[in-house]
Amino acid sequence: MIKKCLFPVAGYGTRFLPATKAMPKEMLPIVNKPLVQYGVEEAVEAGMNDFGFVTGRGKRAIADHFDTSYELEHQIIGTGKEELLGSIRKLIEKNRFAFTRQNQMKGLGHAILSGRNLIGDNPFAVVLADDLCFGEAGGPGVLEQMAKLYAQFRCSIVAIQEVPADQTDKYGVISGEAIKDGLYHITDMVEKPKPEEAPSNLAIIGRYILTPDIFDIIENTPPGKNGEVQITDALLTQAQNGCVLGYKFKGKRFDCGSIDGFVEATNFVYNNIYKS
Ligand code: UTP
Repeated sequence: MIKKCLFPVAGYGTRFLPATKAMPKEMLPIVNKPLVQYGVEEAVEAGMNDFGFVTGRGKRAIADHFDTSYELEHQIIGTGKEELLGSIRKLIEKNRFAFTRQNQMKGLGHAILSGRNLIGDNPFAVVLADDLCFGEAGGPGVLEQMAKLYAQFRCSIVAIQEVPADQTDKYGVISGEAIKDGLYHITDMVEKPKPEEAPSNLAIIGRYILTPDIFDIIENTPPGKNGEVQITDALLTQAQNGCVLGYKFKGKRFDCGSIDGFVEATNFVYNNIYKS
């Protein structure tokens, strides 16, 4: 039912400098595939086929990745290497990719608002590609789990995960009333709270399903933490006026925006996906 998926990819990726000086962090490979392609594949498995990217300066490689490379295809035609392009060819053939720019880095909320023209009046998913997510072995991916919940509840949903208490200041943190096991009706949300100010240890990770009224809410959301327009603040307004759910997803998530998470993800994919 949800066909559209937005990738805010305008960030500078400063934690990965100098690797990200001239290359988007979303193009960093986990083994042999760029992070952003894992995100698109997860969304395709959840039934989505219309992809929007909010990019910035220096991000052209992402648009090139989701486009045919005629010279390269011609070069490797009939060689054993052709099949290495199979996964990306299939994505390009079966899905739509559109790009817009966030002209100023004013935060994730602002990046999502910049994608409004690509989404229109539809519920949509948001993927932060530097969070690499896998469902449980043999089970549905994280976005697929969330899309199923959306079909039932028809409201915005954020993926959440328990984090150690001393790491709450890296995340948006929620509190809420449990509806059933792993599903919360959100009552409060704080962006990057100090441990002593955090309402819980349930942190929002980079998977969202949003209803389109979020755009008007973001437009009326003043800059918050760090002077940026925070999606967390807009979601809190949406939660107070209606309903936002927090979903403790089943599976694994690697924070590939950090060096440690990136190395862990590489080892995991190499041992559990690439080699098997
Ligand atoms: P991060 O906080 O990870 O920032 O943004 P970053 O710039 O990508 O990385 P560091 O911290 O400098 O290493 C979370 C997500 O939000 C997007 C980023 O691209 C990333 O996917 N984002 C953030 C935007 O698209 N625009 C913004 O103004 C801010």
